[in-house]
Amino acid sequence: TWTTTNVVEESVAAIREQVGTKRAICGLSGGVDSAVAAALVQKAIGDQLTCVYVDHGLMRKGESEQVEKDFVAATGVQLKVVEAEERFLTALAGVSDPEEKRKIIGREFIRVFEQAQAELVAEAGAAGEAVEFLVQGTLYPDVVESGGGTGTANIKSHHNVGGLPDDIEFQLVEPLRQLFKDEVRMVGQELGLPDEIVHRQPFPGPGLGIRIVGEVNKERLDLLREADAIAREELTAAGLDRDIWQCPVVLLADVRSVGVQGDGRTYGHPIVLRPVSSEDAMTADWSRLPYDVLSRISTRITNEVDQVNRVVLDITSKPPGTIEWE
Ligand code: XMP
Repeated sequence: TWTTTNVVEESVAAIREQVGTKRAICGLSGGVDSAVAAALVQKAIGDQLTCVYVDHGLMRKGESEQVEKDFVAATGVQLKVVEAEERFLTALAGVSDPEEKRKIIGREFIRVFEQAQAELVAEAGAAGEAVEFLVQGTLYPDVVESGGGTGTANIKSHHNVGGLPDDIEFQLVEPLRQLFKDEVRMVGQELGLPDEIVHRQPFPGPGLGIRIVGEVNKERLDLLREADAIAREELTAAGLDRDIWQCPVVLLADVRSVGVQGDGRTYGHPIVLRPVSSEDAMTADWSRLPYDVLSRISTRITNEVDQVNRVVLDITSKPPGTIEWE
């Protein structure tokens, strides 16, 4: 019978058998899938696993800390954090085209990840076993979409900055290959991961980089991080986290409008709220959020976030709109 306890026990046994005494690495994105995959492998092989987290500076408020503290606290995993904000922001300087941004972020991510891999291999060196396995949080729907083939390392490459090149010299460990998203969440719970990780809403790999319409820089990222944190705080306080699929918060950095605040005229940027309901993100509808919640978010963002003098609500379904703005 299918119980999460059985799933965990069987996966742990299978991972031990596959990996033996060798070492494995796993890229953490902060998302549910990579977190649960890592926690399962950690349970199976302990310190033979090293997780790598690339902090590209495009994360939301508190997110890196969540990976660095909460995840490590819950699993005891060995974590290598690579601070790469400057590298990413330098690469993104002057770029406003969405596809261009995505390509740059994906490319830099892979470079940083490969560098971290090389360092780990070098550290292992004479001391012990080589790193031969790469853990991926591939789910059953990913496998189906790829036609059931083995090339699963590439499925998400256009969509996920975790996409790896074709010529990786690793064997893949994919403990979630037979699971659906809701089952992955149950396994995560069974493994003792905190709710904030298990019930996390989807967040795109390229992060806030594709939620700033216009050029990406530190000042704009800080501004968007503040607005996003307020929206999330109010949605959580209203108990709406599990009702909505996700709520991108977008900064229209290239748009300004006139406003009035205190005694003075302002000329600031709009923030867009994009709350959506969805089953699988292929299609989506805009969420009918309670007016009082929208009102609180709007008041707080315009009061608390510098340079923002307007909050607008995106009421487009998908299609024709996508969930993200870029
Ligand atoms: P769109 O904007 O295409 O988004 O309607 C559909 C879902 O995918 C997420 N998304 C991404 N996730 N890397 C990811 O890991 C990406 O590059 C990416 N782009 C979009 C988006 O947040 C939504 O859940």
